Amino acid sequence: MSHVHVSQHPLVLHKLSVLRDKETDHRAFRELVRELALLLTYEATRDLPLQPKTVTTPMGEAKGYKSEDAIGLVPILRAGLGLVDGVMEMLPNVQVWHIGLYRDEKTLRPVEYYNRLPTAPTVQVCLVLDPMLATGGSAVATVDILKRWGVSRIKFMGLIAAPEGVERLSKAHPDVPIHVASIDDRLNEIGFIMPGLGDAGDRQFGT
Ligand code: PRP
Repeated sequence: MSHVHVSQHPLVLHKLSVLRDKETDHRAFRELVRELALLLTYEATRDLPLQPKTVTTPMGEAKGYKSEDAIGLVPILRAGLGLVDGVMEMLPNVQVWHIGLYRDEKTLRPVEYYNRLPTAPTVQVCLVLDPMLATGGSAVATVDILKRWGVSRIKFMGLIAAPEGVERLSKAHPDVPIHVASIDDRLNEIGFIMPGLGDAGDRQFGT
């Protein structure tokens, strides 16, 4: 699928392996999530539009560029929070709009509990952030919310996806590119990605 991008960068592969390790503690886990967010942002923003801009250097004028689009970062609470800092460090013009969803443990369906989006969209592009794309329910629901808000250019950025989640998001929103560090084997019977890394929210926040 041409809109699904799995990073092959050696640093991403190295850091993701440390992240998966059950011996990695919360502090190291959070730092790795931030670093992976930096690296994946570089890959996910390759097609960011640029406007030409002349820059005056100490030696004269140079041709330059400016990225003017306002980009909305949309972390899905809670686990998506860990990706925000890394992405914010890289992008020049961002706004952060949190969406609160939790997955019902029995039905695995996303339940919305926080959404403070203003009536009219204030950004041109949205980057949905969630480390885990499991059944895909949370990502699909978030993209639904953003499209209803009026944003049409949306990307999903995460760390680990299950094939089931990639398929569901792709079917529901074929126009949304998916950027991840890995597509793992499958979901288990309780909706966890295998082999995955466990619960990304719990591992970041020590719960
Ligand atoms: C996890 C994860 C995603 C979601 C993925 O969150 O962080 O948001 O599940 O599952 P899905 O693709 O099947 O929807 P969870 O509901 O456990 O909440 P948390 O982030 O607060 O831990």
